[in-house]
Amino acid sequence: MIESVGNGRMWVLSGSASSYAFCLTGADELLHLHWGPRIRGVDAEALAAQGPPPYWPFESQLDGHEEYPVEGGPRFVRPSLSVRTETVRGTEWTFGDAVVDGDELRLRFTDAAHGLGLTLHHRMRADADVIERWVTVAHEGDGPALELLRADAAAWTLPRRDRWRLSQLHGRWAAESLLVRSELTYGEKVLSSRRGHTGHQHLPWVALDPDGATEERGEVYGCALGWSGSWRIAVQQLPDGLVQITGGAGYDDSGLLRLAPGESYTSPVFAGLWSEGGFGGASRAWHAWQLAHVIPDARAGRPVLYNSWEATGFDISEEQQRELARRAAAMGVELFVVDDAWFGQRTSDRAGLGDWTPSAERFPRGLTPLVGEVHALGMQFGIWVEPEMVNADSELYRAHPDWVQHHPGRARTEFRNQLVLNLAREDVQVYLWEQLDGLLSSAPIDYVKWDFNRCFTDAGWPGEEYPQKLWVAHVHGLYALLDRLRAAHPGVAFESCSGGGGRIDLGILSRTDQVWTSDNTDPLDRLAIQDGFTQLHPARVMAAWVTDSPNLQLNGRVSTLRFRFVSAMAGVLGVGGDLAEWSEEELAEARGWVDLYKKIRPLVQHGELHRLRAPEGGLSAVQYLLGDETVVLAWLQAQHYGEQPPRLRLLYLLDRVGPPIRRVRTPRGVGCGYQAAADGGFPRFAARRPTTTRPPIRKCEQVAE
Ligand code: GLA
Repeated sequence: MIESVGNGRMWVLSGSASSYAFCLTGADELLHLHWGPRIRGVDAEALAAQGPPPYWPFESQLDGHEEYPVEGGPRFVRPSLSVRTETVRGTEWTFGDAVVDGDELRLRFTDAAHGLGLTLHHRMRADADVIERWVTVAHEGDGPALELLRADAAAWTLPRRDRWRLSQLHGRWAAESLLVRSELTYGEKVLSSRRGHTGHQHLPWVALDPDGATEERGEVYGCALGWSGSWRIAVQQLPDGLVQITGGAGYDDSGLLRLAPGESYTSPVFAGLWSEGGFGGASRAWHAWQLAHVIPDARAGRPVLYNSWEATGFDISEEQQRELARRAAAMGVELFVVDDAWFGQRTSDRAGLGDWTPSAERFPRGLTPLVGEVHALGMQFGIWVEPEMVNADSELYRAHPDWVQHHPGRARTEFRNQLVLNLAREDVQVYLWEQLDGLLSSAPIDYVKWDFNRCFTDAGWPGEEYPQKLWVAHVHGLYALLDRLRAAHPGVAFESCSGGGGRIDLGILSRTDQVWTSDNTDPLDRLAIQDGFTQLHPARVMAAWVTDSPNLQLNGRVSTLRFRFVSAMAGVLGVGGDLAEWSEEELAEARGWVDLYKKIRPLVQHGELHRLRAPEGGLSAVQYLLGDETVVLAWLQAQHYGEQPPRLRLLYLLDRVGPPIRRVRTPRGVGCGYQAAADGGFPRFAARRPTTTRPPIRKCEQVAE
């Protein structure tokens, strides 16, 4: 809901439990007023009537108060917008008009000297507390081209508090999404990717709490960017303690685009959320919003998949995949995915990328017979691609060496023996469309795992006037390709992968059905990775595989099949072990877990997620709630001194009925949990929940390791 007051120069946007307000001064400065609990227009007017902040020598009265601080004028904060011509740098704005379009507010400003138009977009949907913000910058004059050095999607202003704590998700390959919290101090904290993709190093998300939020209580502010290329989020604590968060595409101010007359740039969305429900409440609000408004077709459940990458690597054949498919189908798998090495001369990572036709040696009859067999086994068929890349040893590169990003006369850096195609080029776009559309039309493929296995290094574009633009144009090219493929092949689901979790953000999630969380499939490491991931994103998109033990891919750790399954069942379950090597007992046990997952899948993928205990070494647990059902997954990482593990306090379960429950230890002492004593099934609970509208929970399933 949008309320406009103060003679049409003040706005209050309200969602289900929060409001966001700002106003224009007489000098057309757009000042932030409020972000927090719900308020009305009169409250915003009262806030504005408090007048300007005190004047301090050497300080700006605008800093820390503006909705979108730009470069130029009496400002010293990090600007969200920085524009220049050959002769003039910075901007001076005149307010144009405000347009309310459903739940979106558009404020238009113009800068006469540059002939520049700026539109600030704010959207808050009635069923959410997420504010979606983005900007459009347009060259509306007929003067010289304008260089956009920086055009952030938004600047967020936090209220005055004594201190703030910053939460972030950092990592690297095989260790993504690890949660850390630290005190925010004066100055700037910059999180970014300079790599051309979202990156394993940070999820583009921050959360700030006034140093006291817990998992279920307290104020939390969060901001998340929807961009799959290089990006920057800067959190700045100003001299008077005010905090502002800016974020957008591009990693510094060195240039996004050059706008000629008539051209425009639309930034990605930088979304913000306020919650009073602690970190868990904030996560659930993010999840609900993504499921309702970001992730395509999110109401559909994701199938259990099988992928043999960890087991077979590049050594694949049609017969081997067919045999694995039979075993996977017998286990209850619903989607069979052929990973790398099915195409061109791809027998190792040294060759073949770019040539997206089935290998004549490994799939002499093409893909169709295998797809048919997989379908006949009752499973969907999926395939791996890495369209933005090329090996030097490929037909594509031999024909078009100029299609890769490179600087003239400089070495072309290879990572994993591959180069990055310049998706900003139209001919590259056309080629990829033809290849991928051709592939999806050649056989009834249901699913595509879209990978991206190296960062940008030599981001040059010989012959192009403003090569710097390829950073943004590459992402636009990727999005356009995905959008076009989805439109042409509406039955095909897509997974975003980048050597694991190197491309996870709201932008890619608005075009894909799930993401590959990490190449690290060790079930113990995964607990922390998944805990971090769910701070922002829902379990519905968090792919997790059960692989072999010992974990030869990473650390050699031995774990039970039970532990591996219960760890992977916290997200979208997949199996990635070498089924040819699994014993009959293991296959039968796995079948039981897959069956159980299918029973609890609606809760895991669409339920409310409560992190009962964080994976910090001892017992950790997650509880999912949907309607009147709940499921609890619990893991004991290590047991010390013979002590009993702590009791888990489940949510919303006040009275227990049904068979008595006793706590048990597993024979080897590596896991423990709760188990129904009477029938070995799952304990049943009845619950009372006095204070909210949640219906009582009638059935509770606990899965413990
Ligand atoms: C990446 C992915 C893996 C696998 C390989 C194939 O590393 O993360 O899951 O698909 O590529 O080369």
